[in-house]
Formats: sequence, structure tokens, C-alpha cells
Amino acid sequence: MNIDVENISEVLLSRFDGLDNKADILKSRELKTLYSIIPSLPEAERAIFGKKVNELTLKLKELVEKHQQKLEVPEPIDITAPFDINQNLTNANQLLTSDNGSQHPLMRELDIVLDIFYRMGFSAIESRIIDDDFHMFGSLNFPEGHPARDDYDTFMTKDKLIAPAHTSSMQNRVIQQNKSELEHGKAIACVIPGVVFRNEDVDSRHDHTFYQVEGVYVGKNINAGNLMATLRTFLEEYFGRQLDIKSQPFYFPFTEPSFEFALSCPFCDKKGCSVCSYSGFIELLGCGMIHPNVLTQAEIDPDVYSGFAFGFGLDRLVMMKYDIEDVRNLKSSKLEFLRQFS
Ligand code: DAH
Repeated sequence: MNIDVENISEVLLSRFDGLDNKADILKSRELKTLYSIIPSLPEAERAIFGKKVNELTLKLKELVEKHQQKLEVPEPIDITAPFDINQNLTNANQLLTSDNGSQHPLMRELDIVLDIFYRMGFSAIESRIIDDDFHMFGSLNFPEGHPARDDYDTFMTKDKLIAPAHTSSMQNRVIQQNKSELEHGKAIACVIPGVVFRNEDVDSRHDHTFYQVEGVYVGKNINAGNLMATLRTFLEEYFGRQLDIKSQPFYFPFTEPSFEFALSCPFCDKKGCSVCSYSGFIELLGCGMIHPNVLTQAEIDPDVYSGFAFGFGLDRLVMMKYDIEDVRNLKSSKLEFLRQFS
């Protein structure tokens, strides 16, 4: 018999790389022929020949398996490698190297905001990105079926988990968790930065995902004057200049009274410019005195303690500071945009 297993092995191995479906190699005509001739071989040759054929099959099976594993586990990517590592890209010279990577402008501004509040005696805790109905609504004096729930275009899972539409969803936790401050004669003073989500149509002023910063202050004899002074102090520090402030009545279920708060335009000093739509003032945030029901839900006696709360959009604030015309720029990864901040 002059069929040579080694020869056939070479033929099959050289064919392997070109096959679309690698497993076809195991069904090849050559392999089948090898098996079919085993019974016809003289007994002395049969065992050796059979062993060789089995070894070849095993080798081919291993190759097929290895190839499949490679498909299942993608090549690991080194996410720490510099962006410009791939010199073959046509736009490689436009890519950033890892040395000139920098903090995202929103996060840098958030650090500045938090630093101001730290210096004013506030602590900070981040909000959650998944929450529940009680924290989003119930604890904030929105009973079930309350029409104001509709003002927050809230994303909700089938089992009623919520991607919070505001950082106020942290108020109840923050107040409860810091109750001991009140027992020690101090105040609860906390800011809560976090991402919030709304089922919004996206345009230059609105995004479905954005940052808010909530503020909560609870103590004895706290009044709306304290609220206005706190906001003014923060904003003057943030914009680095004196500002006028204005408030007008508004409605939020979780504050009574509630206000819409505006600051004088930091660019034109109330003369009117494109940033403030020629009105001299810019509406920035919602705020108010924490509703007694919200304090009660957080196990605080509203006859003894009072407090204020506020919430503003960080993206809005940063857009205002740098006169950014489109909120989408902030998440666009446009290098020309980001480089302006480094
Ligand atoms: N949660 C409100 C919003 O997203 C903003 C807000 C208003 C927060 C009044 C407050 C507040 O803490 O007191 O529209």
C-alpha cells in the first residue's frame, strides 16, 4: 500500500488556513479514504497505520478547536496604550497621546464646584444611577398618581426600578443618614452630584443624560434667606465676581415655598447679551424650603428642624461659564472642543 499518511497530513494542513469553515477539514475526502483503507491492510501494518491516522485526526481536531477559541475570546485590548499607537491610521497625527490626555471639562468643573461647597462646610455624596419609586417620588411628597410625576419624563424598568430623573432622589437618604449631626447640635449640610436621566428629545439645550448637583441643608431656624445667601455665595465664588440674584415663586412638591432662581448675567452685568437672551438674568435652578412631609419621611421632626434644598444642572452651569452653545458638545468627544479646556 503506497498511501503515505505524512503526505496527506501535509496536504490537509496546508489547506487548513484557506478554509472558511475549519471543521470541514475533518470531513475531507482524504481523511475518509485513510480510514476506509485500514480494514484492507495486512495485519502487521494495520496497527501502525491506524495509529498514524488517529494521530492526524487528533491534530486536526485540536487545530479546529484552537481556532474556535480564538474566535470566542477576542484579542485583549490594552486600554492604557496611547491613542496614537496605531501609526497606520490616516488621521494618526490628530490623535491625542496619553501625555496630553486631561480631565473632562465637566469633571474638572465638578471638582471646582465641590471644592467651593467643601469650603462652605458641606460634605458630598454621589447619587445613584438606579433607584426606586420611593426615593424618586414617594419620599419627596409626590403621592402615587400625583400629576407632578409627569413633569419628570422618567425611565423605568418593568419591575419598577428607576433611572433617577433628578438628584433629589437622594434627599431622604442623606437626611436620614446624617440625623446624628442634628442630635449633636450641628446642621446637615450635603451636596449630591450625580447623573440623571430623562426621556427628553435631544437638542442644543437638552440632553437625556446629564449631571445635577443637589444641595440639602437642615438645622434649627433655617430660612429662605439662608438659602439665597448660600446660593449667591456659591455662584459668586464660581464665577469669580459679584452677582445679583432673583427668585420667583414656583412649584415643586418637595419644597414649600419653592422658587425658581436666577442670577445676573456674568457676561454683561445685566446689560443684555446673547448668553442671557438679552434679559440680563439667567434662570439657573430650582430650590426651596424642604417640605415638612419630606422631613417627616426622613424621620426628622419638622416642628423642631427646618431646611432648604436646591438642584442645578452642572452641564447648564458649565455651558453658561464658558458660553458653550450646544450641550451635545460636552459628550461629543470632539477634540477641537475638548482641547479648548486643556
Ligand atoms: N429636582 C428638581 C429638578 O430636577 C430641582 C430642584 C428643585 C431640587 C427644588 C431641589 C429643590 O432640591 O428644592 O427639576
